[in-house]
Amino acid sequence: MNPLRSLILAAAGNDVLRRAVAATPGTRGVVERFVAGETIADAVTTAARLIDDGLHVTLDYLGEYTGDARQTEQTVRTYLALLDRLHEEGLAPRAEVSVKLSAVGQSLDEKLALDNARRICEAAERCGTTVTLDMEDHHTTDSTLRVLAELRRTWPWVGAVLQSYLRRTEADAAALAVADSRVRLCKGAYAAPETIAHPSPHEVDLSYVRCANLLLGGGGYPMFATHDPRLIAVLGERARWYGRKRGGYEYQMLFGVRPDEQRRLAAGGETVRIYVPFGEQWYGYLVRRLAERPANLTFFLRALASRS
Ligand code: FDA
Repeated sequence: MNPLRSLILAAAGNDVLRRAVAATPGTRGVVERFVAGETIADAVTTAARLIDDGLHVTLDYLGEYTGDARQTEQTVRTYLALLDRLHEEGLAPRAEVSVKLSAVGQSLDEKLALDNARRICEAAERCGTTVTLDMEDHHTTDSTLRVLAELRRTWPWVGAVLQSYLRRTEADAAALAVADSRVRLCKGAYAAPETIAHPSPHEVDLSYVRCANLLLGGGGYPMFATHDPRLIAVLGERARWYGRKRGGYEYQMLFGVRPDEQRRLAAGGETVRIYVPFGEQWYGYLVRRLAERPANLTFFLRALASRS
């Protein structure tokens, strides 16, 4: 992995830096570009606006690696309240939720995370929408896939996420390319050693296309999460080659990233879903976005300079 990217990703877990960045003037503008706001009301307003523009959304309540049972309970309750609001506002047909298992207890006890995810899935079903389990650091991949398999026994629509930077992912894609299986394919946003992850961006892209072929050739519903113009062009061509009609797969992009492209694809008849994060704990999420686009680094360096 690029050393600058590794360094920025390491900053995601640094508490001193987190506090410095939060206190830096000008932070708000950068945060607002990528995060819908701090409250459920903010998230619902943003979702409604995107849906009005012909897009779909998946909402993520920010927070991860919670080692505190009270905090996990608060996260679950926020998801339940959010789902109710989406239902009340008539947004549920186009708005689902994305859940990080580490935010609902995975690091405390896998069973707790499973039980909490079940509560969120029950509410989503009642409200007429779906849930996708985000994929996090590679240490959690097996656990997340175990929880997914358990949830899918009751709710086959629970979405999985696979990361093409991991060497294991082709095998996982083949296993998940089955009827009714919703699978988001992304490159992967976390640091991982070369023993388990492809070292170069080119290899990650090749792996992405191989996994996309497996998903398009299988019986499930592929969800292609990428902003990469070259990949988007290849995916459109591959979808046609596999005889997939529009609506038989979807593109996904992050809130605030390439908004014009999001609307261009939707105007051309593609299903496009925007990942909309909200909540107070935006720091780890923001750092991963900066690692993808070091052009935004000035903001970060200003925070560091203000400490010295
Ligand atoms: P990459 O970052 O490699 O960029 C390729 C090209 O895309 C660039 O050269 C540029 O042309 C264009 N581009 C990228 N960012 C741009 C920007 N800000 N402005 C303009 N052009 C830009 N990860 C994970 O590990 N677990 C998960 O669960 C998820 N979930 C998820 C959901 C959704 C909807 C998305 C879009 C992404 C994720 N990710 C994720 C993150 C994902 O793994 C990855 O880190 C980012 O999407 C960045 O990779 P890209 O494929 O976009 O291309």
